[in-house]
Amino acid sequence: YQGSITIPVIINILEDANHPVTQAHINSQIAILNEDYNDMNPGTGGVPNEFNNAVADVDITFVVAAINRKASTKTSWGTNDAMKHSNLGGIDATDPANNLNFWICEIGGGILGYAQFPGGELDTDGVVIGSDYFGENPAGGQYGHGRTATHEVGHWLNLRHIWGDGGCRQDDFVADTPSSDRANYGCPSYPTVHCKTNDMTMNYMDYVDDNCMYMFTNGQNDRMRAIFSTGGARESFVN
Ligand code: ARG
Ligand code: ZN
Ligand code: CA
Repeated sequence: YQGSITIPVIINILEDANHPVTQAHINSQIAILNEDYNDMNPGTGGVPNEFNNAVADVDITFVVAAINRKASTKTSWGTNDAMKHSNLGGIDATDPANNLNFWICEIGGGILGYAQFPGGELDTDGVVIGSDYFGENPAGGQYGHGRTATHEVGHWLNLRHIWGDGGCRQDDFVADTPSSDRANYGCPSYPTVHCKTNDMTMNYMDYVDDNCMYMFTNGQNDRMRAIFSTGGARESFVN
């Protein structure tokens, strides 16, 4: 699928008084997503020369369609999707074939967020983000600049981790991301070499600090766009 894509976003918040999610957090998160998915992250100027031609403008715009709030005293929701079901204390998804549902809650276990890949059950489709890691939020520390959502939406759009979650031969099914055998953390210096080539540590699908990730590649863009084509798992968003 070619051309601009607009994704309506539903923000489902399970409110924990100790970890508030404010309108300012929401606004900053949407602004960050729109920067990152339109090649407007100011950090992109730091992309090394060898990766410059690979930088993609994904051309996806995220627009808030609704904000749902529900009080919750649960401080550790985990990753079993309970937050996505009202009968389990959560909030039911809104029309997931036509909206990207976010759930913001206290996940616990040091988990920043998680996502469902395309092609799964509709009622659990979407992205979960820990309350402190949604938007610009000092409480999130080095993960307080909204890039967990950028990374998780990448999974929701069918992207794998850049190192393929395995050794040097394990692919992420993207040709222009160099092979690696591990996640990178913190803010790696360039070059960082694994599998005999320089890692693209600044890719959104690595595990570095929020301020140290600032690119998707053209190959990742192709992989994301394929799911919006005829017969693709997210075709309903463009029709
Ligand atoms: N660990 C999470 C995942 O694999 C998210 C990592 C996000 N990284 C970040 N700098 N915010 O889905
Ligand atoms: Zn991930
Ligand atoms: Ca690759």
